[in-house]
Amino acid sequence: MKKIGILFGMENSYPQAFVDEINARDEKNIIAEIIKIDKLSQGQDSGYAVIFDRISHDVPFYRAYLKNAALQGTAVVNNPFWWSADEKFFNNCLALQLGVPVPKTYLLPSNERPTDTSETSFRNMLMPLDWETMFEEIGFPAYMKPHAGGGWKSVYKVTDREDFFNKHKETGQLVMLLQEEIKYEDYYRCYCIGGKHVKIMPYAPHHEPHLRYDVNTPPASKKLLKLIENYTLMLCKGLGYDFNTVEFAVRDGIPYAIDFCNPAPDADLASVGEENFNWVVKTTADFAIAKAKAHKPAKNNLTWGTFMQSAVPTLAPKKETVKPKPTKI
Ligand SMILES: Nc1ncnc2c1ncn2[C@@H]1O[C@H](COP(=O)(O)OP(=O)(O)O)[C@@H](O)[C@H]1O
Ligand SMILES: [Mg+2]
Repeated sequence: MKKIGILFGMENSYPQAFVDEINARDEKNIIAEIIKIDKLSQGQDSGYAVIFDRISHDVPFYRAYLKNAALQGTAVVNNPFWWSADEKFFNNCLALQLGVPVPKTYLLPSNERPTDTSETSFRNMLMPLDWETMFEEIGFPAYMKPHAGGGWKSVYKVTDREDFFNKHKETGQLVMLLQEEIKYEDYYRCYCIGGKHVKIMPYAPHHEPHLRYDVNTPPASKKLLKLIENYTLMLCKGLGYDFNTVEFAVRDGIPYAIDFCNPAPDADLASVGEENFNWVVKTTADFAIAKAKAHKPAKNNLTWGTFMQSAVPTLAPKKETVKPKPTKI
C-alpha cells in the first residue's frame, strides 16, 4: 500500500478535499490521509510515499520532519531542501537568466543589524550605500518587500525617498527588495502543478482577499495567455516546484513576474472560488497519485529545479561522466 499524506495548518477546505478526492478514485494500493505525528526520532521512516506540505514554512518542526522523510525516500511536495534555500531575490535573478520579464530590483541590507552582529560584521559593505543610483533606476513610486516573505506581510508602496527611508526604518532586521512598480492593466495568478498543468486566473490584488479572484476583465488574447503559460512553466520548472503559483502584472502587453515563490499557494474555497478550487483539488490529486505510482522506496523521489542546466549552461553536466572508481577501505 502506498500512502499519500498531507501536512497543513490553519486552512480548512483544501486538505480534506484533497484526501477525499484521492480516496474517491479507488486506486489500487493507494490511500490518502491527514498526517498524525506522535513522536519523531532520527532516521525514522515517515511511512508515506508522498507528502503534500502546506505549512512547513511556518512550523520549523515540520520542515525538519520533511527533510528526514525525504531522506528516507518520501516524495515531498514541495522539495523541503530547496524551499528552505529559496527566496525572492534569487527568484528574480533566475527569471532574468530564463528570459522571463521581472521588475527592476535591488536587494537591501537590513535596516537594523542582525542579532549578534556588530559593525565589524559589515566591513564588506560600502556605507553609505549608493542610494541615488538605486532610486534613479527604480523610480518612485516603488515597492519594498521582504526578500523572503509571503502573505503580503511587510509589503510597502513607497512614494518618494523620504517615505522610503521612513518605511525602511520599520522593517527592522528584514532584508528587503526595492522594486520598480509595474503599473499594470491586468494581473494574473497562475497555479502550476507538476511542472505541466497551468491554470491562469485573473486576479485583483487590490480587492479584499475573498474577492480577489472575482474579476470581470475581458478575456485576454490567446497570445498573451500562451505567453503567461510558458513563463509560468519556465519558472516552475527552473525552480523545481511541483505546486506553486506565479503572479504576473501585465504592462503594455508584457507579463512581468511579480511573485513566484509560493510553494504552499492559497487553495481555499472561500478565496479562490468553486471552479478554481475544483481544478486545484483534482489536478493535485492526479499529480499525487502519479507521484505515488512512480515512487521508488528508499530512493530520492524529490523534484529538483532545472535551473542549473538551463540558466547556467556551463554548469550543465557533461554527457560522458566519469564513474568514480570504488575505493578500498
Ligand atoms: N513590483 C510591483 N509592481 C506592482 N505591484 C506590486 C509589485 N510588487 C508587489 N506588488 C503588489 O503587492 C502584492 C504583494 O506583493 P507580493 O510580491 O505578491 O508579496 P507576497 O509574497 O507577500 O504575496 C502583489 O500581489 C501586488 O499587488
Ligand atoms: Mg503574492
